[in-house]
Amino acid sequence: MRQLTVIEHLLLHQKENPLATGNFTHLLNELILAAKIIARAVNKAGLMDVLGETGEINVQGEQVQKLDDFANRVLIHRLQRSGLLYAMASEENADLIEIPEQFGRGNYFLVFDPLDGSSNIAANVSIGTIFSIYRRKNGSDPVILSEVLQKGSEQVAAGYFLYGSSTMLVYSTGQGVHGFTFDPSVGEFLLSHPDIKIPEKGKIYSVNEGYWSYWDDKTKEIISYFKTPEPGKPTYSLRYIGSLVADFHRTLLYGGIFMYPKDLRDPKKPTGKLRLLYEANPMAFLVEQAGGMAVDGERPILEIQPEDLHQRVPLFIGSKTEVQKVLEIYGA
Ligand code: AHG
Ligand code: MN
Ligand code: MN
Repeated sequence: MRQLTVIEHLLLHQKENPLATGNFTHLLNELILAAKIIARAVNKAGLMDVLGETGEINVQGEQVQKLDDFANRVLIHRLQRSGLLYAMASEENADLIEIPEQFGRGNYFLVFDPLDGSSNIAANVSIGTIFSIYRRKNGSDPVILSEVLQKGSEQVAAGYFLYGSSTMLVYSTGQGVHGFTFDPSVGEFLLSHPDIKIPEKGKIYSVNEGYWSYWDDKTKEIISYFKTPEPGKPTYSLRYIGSLVADFHRTLLYGGIFMYPKDLRDPKKPTGKLRLLYEANPMAFLVEQAGGMAVDGERPILEIQPEDLHQRVPLFIGSKTEVQKVLEIYGA
């Protein structure tokens, strides 16, 4: 079958896809254009002055990598002018990003992690961009924070670009999860993974075991479960890339579980490192669309009512079998 572009695929499913409006298609196209510009910089990172740190510290208290900053600026510049958003938020910006009057506003809220896996940039390990899209609920002007802090279950679309051995787009608008691979010879993302479903169970667990001594006893019991062979239980392999997008993509395709538990390393971050709005929620939306599960250890990620743009949350995400084992041990 002729390989479809993202837009052809979206329009093909137009009837079952209330979201395939001109505005949403335009929004997705803007994200795709931004990702192509970011991918070009990522692929030449070793040759351009985009490696290393800017010397700034972001709202997360982390060193801003030049590529973080570049990706953030590309996304904000393009999407602010799309006329499709009433507000925007980014991992790299402490507050909501206003949409200037002169650019025109629309009915979508976009929140994103412009470059995920920054610690891996210099080592040429896969990194990505994560995005999450909501529809406006009520029309207050100026936009107030409470309006954009919707539960993950309210997402109308979510996805990620993975800058790896090939550049991929994986996204869902609530009608299943679809993967597209960038073909530089035509400059398009072409459908390569239609209707992705995560295996019911897997043989891989993914967690940073370096934090063992900072975990509570129940969390140690969970990690020990995946390390301990038992009759009838597969022997699990440990895989940890350190880029959520790459670790999640492998989990989505191969099955198994990715975990970032809460740990006691930093009293300021008692709930672990990953952020709800632009890391846990979009991945939770995708994994549930693919038949998997995502919890914080007690409840579905998508049911958490956010209180803050940069709120952190523990994340256990992947195949139903493994995530249910986590809930069982936590006694949820
Ligand atoms: P970001 O680069 O956007 O800050 O995200 C990095 C995150 C995520 O990609 C990954 O799963 C996690 O950091 C790795 O954290 P550790 O290095 O603590 O394992
Ligand atoms: Mn990230
Ligand atoms: Mn990031």
